[in-house]
Amino acid sequence: MKQTPETIIILDFGFEGIQKLARSIRDKHIYTMVMPYTVSVERIMQEKPVGLIICADSNVARTAAEIDRFLNLKLPTALIGSAAEMAGDTVAENYSCDTDALCRFCLEKCGCTGNWKMENFIDEAVCDVRAQIGNSRVVLGLSGGVDSSVVAALLHKAIGKQLTCVFVNHGLLRKNEAELVQEIFARHFEMNLCYVDASERFLNKLSGVDDPEQKRKIIGHEFIEVFAEAAAKVDAEFLGQGTIYPDILESIPLDGNPSGVIKSHHNVGGLPENMKFKLVEPLERLFKDEVRAVGKLLGLPSELIDRHPFPGPSLGVRHLGAIKRDTLHILREADAIVTEELLNSGWYHKTWQTFAAFLPVKAVGIKNGKRTYGYAIAIRSVNSVDAVTAEVVRLPWELLERMSERIIQEVDGVSRVVYDITAKPPGTIEWE
Ligand code: XMP
Repeated sequence: MKQTPETIIILDFGFEGIQKLARSIRDKHIYTMVMPYTVSVERIMQEKPVGLIICADSNVARTAAEIDRFLNLKLPTALIGSAAEMAGDTVAENYSCDTDALCRFCLEKCGCTGNWKMENFIDEAVCDVRAQIGNSRVVLGLSGGVDSSVVAALLHKAIGKQLTCVFVNHGLLRKNEAELVQEIFARHFEMNLCYVDASERFLNKLSGVDDPEQKRKIIGHEFIEVFAEAAAKVDAEFLGQGTIYPDILESIPLDGNPSGVIKSHHNVGGLPENMKFKLVEPLERLFKDEVRAVGKLLGLPSELIDRHPFPGPSLGVRHLGAIKRDTLHILREADAIVTEELLNSGWYHKTWQTFAAFLPVKAVGIKNGKRTYGYAIAIRSVNSVDAVTAEVVRLPWELLERMSERIIQEVDGVSRVVYDITAKPPGTIEWE
């Protein structure tokens, strides 16, 4: 049965950590939405909110009138930070930015019952998707990343065989990745999965290209072409998208968008003009941890759901310099060893991203009593909250030594393994 969440709207007058606040209240099963202070009251009322939380940092100065238009809605309202000083005569209450206190406000003053649960979300999303799609078909680009995997599982639950997923193998995937995706989606879930092996096409285009941005452009461009070709055969009216709530929040300017329209994101970017799809984006209300929870409830394995973030251009930006098939193979094998050792030691889930990068320099070594002259592999392990900054993880020395020994022994063509100890900044997480 469709159950409407009891919505609390958090109005952003310039408040650092507003996403974190919204998320922490959602953790207590109360549904929150963030809107900029420029939003229209009509837009707010569309959501039928049961309460408001108005937030402003102490350095933000707005007029009483700007806050009063929300107070005039006569909804239970909590004021945070300097919002309290800015408000005119008011019955709204002042609160500290404390999740427990704010949850009490939502439960006691706004009448929330705490019904924001992922089980309920799934039921509701299934209803919404069925109503939106009717008898039409949906095509979805499946990358094997968390968001596209969860959208695939959710759409499949709602519309079954009306969904076709397109999985493009661009030749830059990690070891066993194509098999894993096919195993889960085609065999376990029995989805319509269109698997396109375009490795040769991508690797030919990338031949001799060593500039990182150029590589990214080629990979992105080819990807769109290959996907569009496959999608055109599906005869779908809708395109599924793994848009999530932070994508949307980050595309809303705090100032300058008086209607506060929520949809200004361009996740679809770049599909050819003649491919006119309507969008279906069932995760657009969810934060990343909620997406993971939904994925688990839908039966996706931890192997997919709890994976480290992985760049769109894949191994393409972890293989420094021009990509050749034999050196790409070296990187893929080395990366698989790093991941396997990380999982076996229990360190995988304690790090944000840990991976191998291929360095196109050669060094002398000795293997089985013989002189070798092979390439270098760098291991990088970082922790981060949002990838904007990152600190180096001090992986146990024994673990690093084991990775290094195995890479040298098992991967032909490598004679050195080094550990990257550069934080971000000044480094970036990826090497290219
Ligand atoms: P950097 O290297 O900029 O990476 O510190 C920050 C985060 O973004 C990922 N990353 C990418 N993701 N396309 C993507 O989809 C890209 O071209 C790309 N480059 C970096 C990186 O893995 C890290 O999580």
